[in-house]
Amino acid sequence: MSLDPDLDSMRAQGHLAVDLLVDWLAELPRAPVARMPDARWLAQLVGEPLPTAPGSVEDSMRHFMTELMPFATLVNHPRFFAYIPCPGSYVGALGALLAAGTNLFTGSWLGGAVAAQLEEQVLEWVREALALPIGFRGVITSGGSLANLSGLAAARARVAEADWNRTTVYVSQATHHSVAKAARLLGITGDRVRNIPVDAGQRMVPEPLRAAIAADRLSGRVPMLVCGTLGTTTTGAIDPLDAMVEVCRAEGVWLHVDGAYGAAMALLPESRDALRALEAADSITLDPHKWLYAPFECGCFLTRHLDALRRAFAADGDYMQDIPPDEINMFQRGPELSRGNRALKLWLLIRAAGIDALRQAIRDDLALCRLAHDLLAADPRVRIVSPPQMSIFCFTLNAGEAAAQRLMRAVLDDGYLMLSSSRVAGEYVLRWCVLNHRTTAADIRNSVARLSDLIDQHEG
Ligand SMILES: Cc1ncc(COP(=O)(O)O)c(C=O)c1O
Repeated sequence: MSLDPDLDSMRAQGHLAVDLLVDWLAELPRAPVARMPDARWLAQLVGEPLPTAPGSVEDSMRHFMTELMPFATLVNHPRFFAYIPCPGSYVGALGALLAAGTNLFTGSWLGGAVAAQLEEQVLEWVREALALPIGFRGVITSGGSLANLSGLAAARARVAEADWNRTTVYVSQATHHSVAKAARLLGITGDRVRNIPVDAGQRMVPEPLRAAIAADRLSGRVPMLVCGTLGTTTTGAIDPLDAMVEVCRAEGVWLHVDGAYGAAMALLPESRDALRALEAADSITLDPHKWLYAPFECGCFLTRHLDALRRAFAADGDYMQDIPPDEINMFQRGPELSRGNRALKLWLLIRAAGIDALRQAIRDDLALCRLAHDLLAADPRVRIVSPPQMSIFCFTLNAGEAAAQRLMRAVLDDGYLMLSSSRVAGEYVLRWCVLNHRTTAADIRNSVARLSDLIDQHEG
C-alpha cells in the first residue's frame, strides 16, 4: 500500500502548502512577534488522540497554519531582535521542500553521491566567499552547536588516545555554551575547560591564555583546543584572533573559531582585513541558518584538517563494504549516518540570490542596527552598555536594573517587537540584534517608538 496520494492530489496539496505559506509570509509584518501561551493551555490546544483513520491533508495543513501558528513566537519576523534571529528565506524553504521530497541519502557516496558532491560544492562556495585558503573542507551540520562539537572532536583526533583524559580546552565567559557542552560530551569536564578572563569589551585576553596553557603543560595536562569567538552571542565581540593564532601556533594548540553568528562578516570585503586571522584557524563554525538567511538546520563546519575530522568520526561495518572509502562520505565527517540533503536549501539560495545580494543583506542589517542604536542612544532614559560591533547592541535604563527587567517583561507581553536580555560584565542588559532581510527602516523606527512608549509605562 502506498502512502502517496494520486498525482493530481499531490499537486493540489503541494499548491495549497505553498499558498498557505505565501499568505502567511504576506501577513508576517502585521503579526505579533512574541507570544507566550500558557503551557497547559497549549498542550490542550495541540493534544489530540492518535489518529487511526485517514484524514484530510488539506484540513491538517490549514489547521496548523490557522489554529497553531498564531501562537508561535516568530524568529523570522522583521521585528524579532532577540537572541540571534534566524530569518530563513522563501527560496531556502523551497530548497528544503525539494530536499525533503527527493529524500536523497547524504551519508555516503554510494547512497547519495549527488547530494554529497552538492554539499562539498556548497562548502566550497562558503570557503571562497569567506576568502579562506583552498583546502578548508568539512560538513554541513544541524547548526553551530554541532559544528563546535565537530571542532573539538577533530582537535581531539590529533591527540594520542592515551592522553585523552588529560586534554584541556580554553574558552571565556563570553564563549557560547555549546563549546563547554561539547567538551563535556567528549569527557572533558570540570577544570579541564579553562575559563580565560575577558577585557571590558568581552574579548579573551591573550596573556592569561598563554599562561594557562603553559601552566597546564607543566602540570602534565595536554592543551588541546582554544575557542576564539568571532561575534559573541551577547555583544557580537570579536576575540583578538591575531594574538590567539600566535599563542596557538607557538603552543601547538588547535584554534577553533566559533563564527556561528559573526563569521558572515568575513563575506564583506571591507571587513576582511580585520578578520584576516580567520585564514590561520584550524577550524571554523559559521551558521548559514543565521546570517546567510538559510532555513534552520544549516550550520557549516570548515577545517584545514579534514583528515582529523575523518579520524574523529571514522566508522566501519561489514554492511558498509561496498562504499568507496575515499570518496565523499559524510558519515566519516560527523556523528550521523542517515542524514538529509541539508546543502540544497543553501545551494538554491546562493544560486538564486548570488553571493553579492547576500553580502548586501548583511550590510543592510549592519546599517539598521546602527539606526536602532542611534535612535535609542538619543533617549536620555537609555544607557548604551555595548555599542554595535556587528549587528548587536546592548542597553539598559538609567532608572536601574529592576526597571530594565520590567521593560523586558513588558516587551514580551506587548509582542510588537522582541528583544532578549543578557548580562555584560555582570550587568543586566537588553539586547537588540538585527539580522533579517525582511526588516526595514520603518520596522526599526516603529519599534524604537513602541519601546519608548513601553519605557514611559515601566520606567518608574
Ligand atoms: C556564537 C554562537 N555559537 C554557537 C551557537 C549555537 O548555534 P546553534 O543554535 O545553531 O546550535 C550560537 C547560537 O546562537 C552562537 O551565537
